[in-house]
Amino acid sequence: MNFNVQTTTWKKVRATTVAFFQTEEKRGIRATIKGLGRTSAGASAETLLATGDMAGKKDEIFVLYPRRSESAAKRVFLVGLGKADKLSLETVRRASACAAKKAQKMKSKSLAIVLPAVKGASGAEIASAAVEGILLGLYKFDKFFKKEEPTVPIENVVIIDDGTSLRGSSAAEVKAAIEETQTITNATIFAREMENEPSNNKFPETLANWAKEVGQAHGVKVTIFGPKELAANKMVGILGVNQGSAKEARFIMMEYMGAPKKDTPPIVLVGKGITFDTGGISIKPAPGMGEMKGDMSGAATVIATMKSVASLKLPVNVVGLVSSAENMPSGTAMRPGDILTYSNGLSVEVDNTDAEGRLVLADALIWAERYKPKSVIDLATLTGACVIALGHVTTGMMGNDTSMMERLKRAGDATYERVCELPIYDEYDELIKSDVADIKNVGGRWGGAITAAMFLKRFTNYPWVHLDIAGTAISDTAGDYIPKGGTGVGVRLLTRMLKEEANA
Ligand code: BES
Ligand code: MN
Ligand code: ZN
Repeated sequence: MNFNVQTTTWKKVRATTVAFFQTEEKRGIRATIKGLGRTSAGASAETLLATGDMAGKKDEIFVLYPRRSESAAKRVFLVGLGKADKLSLETVRRASACAAKKAQKMKSKSLAIVLPAVKGASGAEIASAAVEGILLGLYKFDKFFKKEEPTVPIENVVIIDDGTSLRGSSAAEVKAAIEETQTITNATIFAREMENEPSNNKFPETLANWAKEVGQAHGVKVTIFGPKELAANKMVGILGVNQGSAKEARFIMMEYMGAPKKDTPPIVLVGKGITFDTGGISIKPAPGMGEMKGDMSGAATVIATMKSVASLKLPVNVVGLVSSAENMPSGTAMRPGDILTYSNGLSVEVDNTDAEGRLVLADALIWAERYKPKSVIDLATLTGACVIALGHVTTGMMGNDTSMMERLKRAGDATYERVCELPIYDEYDELIKSDVADIKNVGGRWGGAITAAMFLKRFTNYPWVHLDIAGTAISDTAGDYIPKGGTGVGVRLLTRMLKEEANA
């Protein structure tokens, strides 16, 4: 899909569909109301607004057909934004997604947009939000369908610059912002693709290959550990969890050293890469187990963020680490009661083989130490408890790096990939005490998201943040620009934070 900014008016723009946005207060299109045409039932824009039939509500779209003599476009969309005082960049993402989906359904090969005004936001920011909404909204995991009627993709999106419509930004600024947003959005879609891939096509080796592809395409150094290196480095968590699988485990290291000084301490991203989580011998119940193909979402986010950061050539040092295994029950699988002794000397009683994420992450957290990191951020679909606490709306955030947590909070609000802090008070440590080892891998019924973090904390001795994306990475309902299934959550969040790091 091509995006460009054209200096023209809506009547002259070379696009089949032109979209106007409108709040419930009916601000926005008054000046252009003449010539927008009529609906197929014959109502004009004036009538729609005067009768209140078009109320400007969220998700509302009216289609008008202008007269050929009036405009070059075949059709006009009036897209509702909801209440003016609630209008934000998120509104623009959602409304643009709705408009793009409708345009694509109508087989419109080009879509022109008159950007709505958003208080406090520049035209470049508003355009970026529109681009995110369009690209993320049109994403579909449809490669397995036999295509009866192939979708006609939108080929061109035009941001109209009629002198006032860019809301204070120059065309060049808008163009640059769009380009950057496309890169980040494409990386998000790459993460979704990895997440949605079924687990008969996706094993630890597959994750390693995806990482290598990113490495080759964007100049990221990629190193992979297989069974031999995992054993040599005493990565007992990854090996233990993978013990029941017919496939081999992998540990993936990606290094992008873009900072002016190569010895600037890097930010290390750690991802949970369980390519399928049956629970192992502590097997999960059947309903919904299929969702566990997405239990490598943390890994997908890390790999895709490396792609995003390297394509943007951000002047930062970033390392991506992924612990990947397949959690299967079998005659060779790890048993409840088994004890693992990690390379840092800490022993762990495996009380429940379904709490496997923390076991594989521990190896990576120990490994991260050798980079002398400025901060380590791990991402994992770690606990059902986090979904109980925060639903599918917010990522759970825990850690000791308070300044990084503040930055992630801000980046989360800006990208709408919001994070919410949960406490990691010392008292919770009691819950992971074991009778037979230093700690155990489950903390009982209460505070499950937190006890998982308490476990991870034992393997960190540097500034650290843990993001539990169990609720936000795998969506059970389709939103305007967030589909059912893999969401790619975290790529936009982390890239935003790293962009800020680059400017610091
Ligand atoms: N991958 C799951 C967590 C999960 C649940 C992610 C639902 C996404 C949606 C994780 O490995 C797991 O099984 N956690 C257990 C931990 C428990 C045994 C302490 C859980 O949450 O039930
Ligand atoms: Mn599990
Ligand atoms: Zn899991």
